[in-house]
Amino acid sequence: MRSVILSLILVLPVFARAQEILVNVYNRNILSLNGKWSYIIDPYENGYYDYRYEPYDKNPNPYGGYFLDRQPAGKSELLEYNFDRSPVLTVPGDWNSQDDKLLYYEGTIWYRRQFEYTKDKPSNRLFIYFGAANYEAHVYLNGKKLGQHTGGFTPFQYEITDFIHEGRNSVVVKVDNRRRRDGVPTLNTDWWNYGGITRDVMIVEVPETFIADYCIQMAKGQNNNISGFIRLNGPVKAQKVKVEIPELKSVTEFTTDENGTAKVEITLKNLVHWSTDNPKLYTVNIATANETVCEKIGFRNIETRGTDILLNGKPVFLRGICIHEENPMRGGRAYSAEDALQLLNWAKELNCNYVRLAHYPHNEYMARLADEMGILIWEEIPVYWTILWDDPATFKNAKSQLTGLINRDKNRASVIIWSMANETPVSEERTSFLKNLSAHARELDDTRLISAAMEVHRDPGNPNYRIVEDPFADYVDIINFNQYIGWYDGLPSLCDEVNWIISYNKPVMISEFGAGALQGLHGDALTRWTEEYQEDLYKRTLSMLSKIPQFRGLSPWILCDFRSPRRPLPGIQDGWNRKGLIGENGTKKKAFYVLQEFYMQKAKEYGDW
Ligand code: GCU
Repeated sequence: MRSVILSLILVLPVFARAQEILVNVYNRNILSLNGKWSYIIDPYENGYYDYRYEPYDKNPNPYGGYFLDRQPAGKSELLEYNFDRSPVLTVPGDWNSQDDKLLYYEGTIWYRRQFEYTKDKPSNRLFIYFGAANYEAHVYLNGKKLGQHTGGFTPFQYEITDFIHEGRNSVVVKVDNRRRRDGVPTLNTDWWNYGGITRDVMIVEVPETFIADYCIQMAKGQNNNISGFIRLNGPVKAQKVKVEIPELKSVTEFTTDENGTAKVEITLKNLVHWSTDNPKLYTVNIATANETVCEKIGFRNIETRGTDILLNGKPVFLRGICIHEENPMRGGRAYSAEDALQLLNWAKELNCNYVRLAHYPHNEYMARLADEMGILIWEEIPVYWTILWDDPATFKNAKSQLTGLINRDKNRASVIIWSMANETPVSEERTSFLKNLSAHARELDDTRLISAAMEVHRDPGNPNYRIVEDPFADYVDIINFNQYIGWYDGLPSLCDEVNWIISYNKPVMISEFGAGALQGLHGDALTRWTEEYQEDLYKRTLSMLSKIPQFRGLSPWILCDFRSPRRPLPGIQDGWNRKGLIGENGTKKKAFYVLQEFYMQKAKEYGDW
């Protein structure tokens, strides 16, 4: 028995060319589509497949899809799916935290937004830009298929110049957050599978030939030489482009080649380097004859030398904390400048100079705000736990997400580490997968450091030895590993017994350690889930790690409690991972102050206080 979904707006399979993503989109000529979007829940994907399970995209027919955007043609017409009569969700925002019915929902939801548009200039071009949608999105404009995007944490866009109407338009998006064995991440994670259009959506208007992409950063190992590129998109490929840094009285002109690209080399005088205690940003104007794009950019140098990490040539100790993209005060995915300010202010209060944005690319506001606040950042892609290492499509997906992340944040001085993976079980396929990812990252950006959160191994003959030995260690600049001695591995007192065997002449950081504590639950230091247990574990762990000779930084797990379906313990977890130093209500736990004090001492030791 088929449900008849009448539609007179046929789905015409017009796949717009997936464009390289516009960089610095917030400083462009944009119309925000944030706000209330009508939605239809579609667990059987009835709007995408016909009753023979054929996609309407490929098999358009009069009974197709939810791209409807009209009332019934008459009182006898059967119309079962109608956005005008449907409820609304706020975009940006995950659906799970907006309606209790959707808290655990994993499946498809169709979104629809109507909007008016009039071009500023007839010759201009238009794009629709999504900051992210988790996990797979299909996008339609006025009934035409623009394309589909896989990956829940990186931006995507489609050119709509030829599809947009002067006046009323209707954009429809199918978002499906189901986890996939061949996905990135795969089926099992320790975070909430927030679905939806989770970041900003906007229409971007640009000239016919526009400044699509650019990188203006300090050249590797340099102190005053800027290196990078500018790439134009449009018919007039070869033209003059000017890079101006007014504060430094620097104006340099380049000419793009027949591909629209120009290499940028600029030597600057009197440059003040960006640093954590002086996050100096310069206004940089990039201009062609009919467009100027401006951005605030910091210039710094990051490198390792032996076991030291050097920021502008000076040894630095990374006083960090892990952060999930969640605002516990509001609930759900963080997505706004205000959310970023909340999270990074807490990190600053903890005396951090560094944060690990786990386990996937966070929204763009985080790196932009960290540039202004002088906070160093580790960014990563969700190559997490048991990825399908020998699946070429999975590698292509991971590489695409890594490319999207680097493309978006390559002009951010705060970003110093690209991380390839988290706690991935060692195998030949896994190491090859990560090695190829890291080679791609270095090809795109040779100025930043590569790392990964690796695992710890034991020596059966020496129960108190913990060994960091990973074939991928040869491909990273900084050795990072997660360890949970005192929580998953023995009790906190075991920290006092353990010897670390780490034989790399590279900087060593600890990318995770921690313990669960319910904020406000108190007892003695051996009572699990109390703040005192977590406090004691932090004290003993910090003392243990300080004995590692190559110890140059850490990012304990984690700033705030966060939702996870793996954490059900009634009355204690209730669906939350309780390893935060701050509870879901924003209240700090006792361990917060242990780490805060340790970081103050470290800052004084490194002359950062
Ligand atoms: C792992 C993992 C985290 C997880 C944490 C935990 O190290 O990287 O994503 O949340 O342990 O068990 O709490």
